[in-house]
Amino acid sequence: MSKKYYIETMGCQMNEYDSDHLARIFEDSGYVRAGDPEKADFVLLNTCSVREKAEQKALSRLGRLATLKRKKPRTLLAVAGCVAQQRGVDLLERFPGLDLVLGPREIGNFRKILGRTEKGATRVAAIDSQKTPASFSGGFEYFQRHVKAYLTIMEGCNNFCSYCIVPYVRGRETSRSPRELLDEAKRLTLQGVKEITLLGQNVNSYVHQKMRFPALLAAMSEIKGLYRIRFTTSHPKDLSPELIQCFAHTEKLCSHIHLPFQAGSNRVLKTMRRGYTREKYMDLIGELRKARPGIAVTSDVMVGFPGETEEEFELTLDLIRTIEFDNLFSFKYSDREGTPAARMEGKIPERKKLERLAHLQDLQRKITLKKNRGLINKKVEVLVEGPSKKGLALTGRTTTNKVVNFTCDNEQIGKLIDVTIRRVSFNSLCGELTSLKS
Ligand code: SAH
Ligand code: SF4
Ligand code: F3S
Repeated sequence: MSKKYYIETMGCQMNEYDSDHLARIFEDSGYVRAGDPEKADFVLLNTCSVREKAEQKALSRLGRLATLKRKKPRTLLAVAGCVAQQRGVDLLERFPGLDLVLGPREIGNFRKILGRTEKGATRVAAIDSQKTPASFSGGFEYFQRHVKAYLTIMEGCNNFCSYCIVPYVRGRETSRSPRELLDEAKRLTLQGVKEITLLGQNVNSYVHQKMRFPALLAAMSEIKGLYRIRFTTSHPKDLSPELIQCFAHTEKLCSHIHLPFQAGSNRVLKTMRRGYTREKYMDLIGELRKARPGIAVTSDVMVGFPGETEEEFELTLDLIRTIEFDNLFSFKYSDREGTPAARMEGKIPERKKLERLAHLQDLQRKITLKKNRGLINKKVEVLVEGPSKKGLALTGRTTTNKVVNFTCDNEQIGKLIDVTIRRVSFNSLCGELTSLKS
């Protein structure tokens, strides 16, 4: 009987991409996927440490998995991702059942490490954070029946925003070679993938030899059979005019940008070390909307950064009202050990942070709903992804990254169709099939 692996993923899309890569290595090494950890011979938890809550969640889940291992001692247990990188060998001490700690930059070595772990080389921490990002070979069959895939084009971050742990756990910026990336994208497309999201902590600073991000996008868009390209995340300080122009010229590039702004006050932006002002941010959005009318804009924002006054919080709300984001990911500031912000004075009480967050989310809810309502009785193009979570319907997304549920036959999975929107909620749109396209 084949050995079974089980992977659980927390955190961002970069972790999801890494988990896909790890899964492919398991499958190439003769494992099959298990639906739950109790049935697996190898259990791997891929973790996130961007906020304290995420780290706590990872540690408590790891505790549960370690208990499981006590009942089934032959199971191998590994922790990967950003908590693995951050806590390293401490995790081996804290969790006696843990066999392997694997940092994000060690994934390229996982094939070798897996072999050694199986042979009994356990209680190991592989956490070099400066290795070149993994290049993938083999295992692309894993993507059969997937309509969408991620593709990490660069790893790490050099920005050191004062609150953020990512540069410490993901290492310095390193871009993968265009040849390798185009090859991977083509192989994904041959397996039926129709939409690729290019990933990096800061894709705008992609550079390999002389090739920059806009040129990589242009080369990607030449791939036959690939319908849609997205990318995330962009940093406002590095969003070049050339990249903005890609939205005017590159048809396969979706009408959506995720551009975190974090705060609406210039003083706060400065202490965050973001490298732009609110005025500059608003200009960028203006230029993007000129280059691609109707482009959806989503963003990340934080409340309760140390020293944030009521007036400064109001400036954040004002920016949200002015831009009218399609959606926002909003967070309470969380101290991360070792970052400059954790040592700053003027910490905002939890209660105040909660209050500000609720206020902000209430405002954004109204804006998102208003935008979604504007789509009622309009025709939108949808890439069909598969069955929806609810009922008999299928689900897919618009080019603006909005979820649409509708009914049509399974034959349409992986195709572009037109749907007329009839009902909307905050999270999704619901419509009926108007015409088949591809
Ligand atoms: N590379 C991306 C963001 C990665 S982290 C970028 O620079 O845009 C995702 C989001 O988590 C950030 O945009 C920020 O809003 C939030 N975040 C990061 N550190 C945080 C902290 N210490 N507390 C609260 N939110 C944080
Ligand atoms: Fe963190 Fe800033 Fe880098 Fe984003 S750009 S990962 S927020 S340090
Ligand atoms: Fe979390 Fe690491 Fe991503 S800290 S957000 S999993 S880069």
